[in-house]
Amino acid sequence: MYKSNLHKDFFLNSEEAIVKRFNLVKKISIEFTKHHPIALEMDALLMEYKDSESNLPSQYKTNTPTRTEEMSQRRYQKAASNALTSEFETLFNLLKQNTLATSKIVDEAQIQTLIKEWLRSEKIKFNDLDSEVQKRFSTLPMTIQYELPNKTLPSFSKPAINEFQQMVDDVLLGNNVFLVGGAGTGKTFTAENLIAKQALNRPHITINCSQWTSPTEIIGGQTMDGYVEGKLIEAWKNGWVLILDELPKIDPNTAGLFNDALSKTYLNDALIFNARKESFTKHPDFACIATGNIYPNKESLSYGANNKQDLSLLDRFSGSVYFVEKNPVIEKQILQNTMIWSICDKLRDAIEVFKYEAQLSLRFMRTARDAYALETKRLQTKSSKTISANEGKTFKSAMDSYLSTFTEMQQKNLKENIRYDRFFSSYQYRELSIDKLVY
Ligand SMILES: Nc1ncnc2c1ncn2[C@@H]1O[C@H](COP(=O)(O)OP(=O)(O)OP(=O)(O)O)[C@@H](O)[C@H]1O
Ligand SMILES: [Mg+2]
Repeated sequence: MYKSNLHKDFFLNSEEAIVKRFNLVKKISIEFTKHHPIALEMDALLMEYKDSESNLPSQYKTNTPTRTEEMSQRRYQKAASNALTSEFETLFNLLKQNTLATSKIVDEAQIQTLIKEWLRSEKIKFNDLDSEVQKRFSTLPMTIQYELPNKTLPSFSKPAINEFQQMVDDVLLGNNVFLVGGAGTGKTFTAENLIAKQALNRPHITINCSQWTSPTEIIGGQTMDGYVEGKLIEAWKNGWVLILDELPKIDPNTAGLFNDALSKTYLNDALIFNARKESFTKHPDFACIATGNIYPNKESLSYGANNKQDLSLLDRFSGSVYFVEKNPVIEKQILQNTMIWSICDKLRDAIEVFKYEAQLSLRFMRTARDAYALETKRLQTKSSKTISANEGKTFKSAMDSYLSTFTEMQQKNLKENIRYDRFFSSYQYRELSIDKLVY
């Protein structure tokens, strides 16, 4: 019944705890003759100990803890994990593993080696430090270094646009630029042609934003023709300038798709993901310029289709917002016709004085100028076979078309203000010099 009795010599020559346990079994089972449940359980443990010891080579034989020792060890571990910081718990586990692996008690030198190795892989973080030590670190002077782009840009004639150099600098510094201004003031042209193409010599890709702009256009997606990559992704990986034309018109939820990328424009090697969750590393030349008729932090009365945008999106542009105003110098340069410019400018002033909700843009000025060029050409080549000048597009017809968008009362006021009858009723402007101001 009691197997340990058969190995009396082995147990009595074992360590003290085993001898004690063996004698206890002997005692409570009255010389191994009486059936006793606790004695039988302890007998089984003794045999387990014997089996495990006999499987080990003699140099690795060790002291098996008694049940009481096992319990106290577990209690100690619990207390240790409660009381010690997680770092010390890690160290404790490390020591335990090492002890088990070698089945030896580790000595002080080994503990030091273990700690050193552990410290080499475990970095102590600032927050792990004592608050007093943290305070001392915070008051120490800090050395920082800015890395500014060191690039030779193509030379081109600088446009007469306010703050143009600052816009270019912003792009080079990795800031997202926002050009805000009335219709036809030249925002899109400035972004696409002047900044991206002429100043930086970089290709651009434009998203014409509206409430219908889809995530597919931005981050890619499945279409009838298969997967199409998004424009944001293309610009990001190829180093193109991403033009977000009329950004305030986009649905604010869709606009959220730009947030992640635009917060990383200035970072090197930043990653973004497309619709297929594939990652793309930023090309160093990636840049973003947005345009809009308003700064979209509120609903607009004049520009109804613009949406109020999330502040987090607007934050991506903070510090790099430029208000593009009408620019007579540029307008005259482009038109090359002072007479037409001055009439248009006079009309624009009148609209402003009367506070009518309308814009007279550079776009209209160009249309008027081109119409004038066409009618002049027709006048010069008078022939029965050609269309008469009055029949075709003229400066007058362009002006009439523009004025027709106002109410009758508004038209009357505007016509009086620009002395329409004097210059337009019988095409009198044709007699004026194109180099002269009319008013
Ligand atoms: N610096 C410039 N040189 C030559 N043409 C220009 C210049 N700026 C603007 N233009 C021309 O003026 C017209 C209006 O410019 P653009 O479309 O850029 O205005 P916008 O401010 O983007 O207008 P909208 O708000 O309506 O989009 C365009 O035909 C454009 O080609
Ligand atoms: Mg535009």
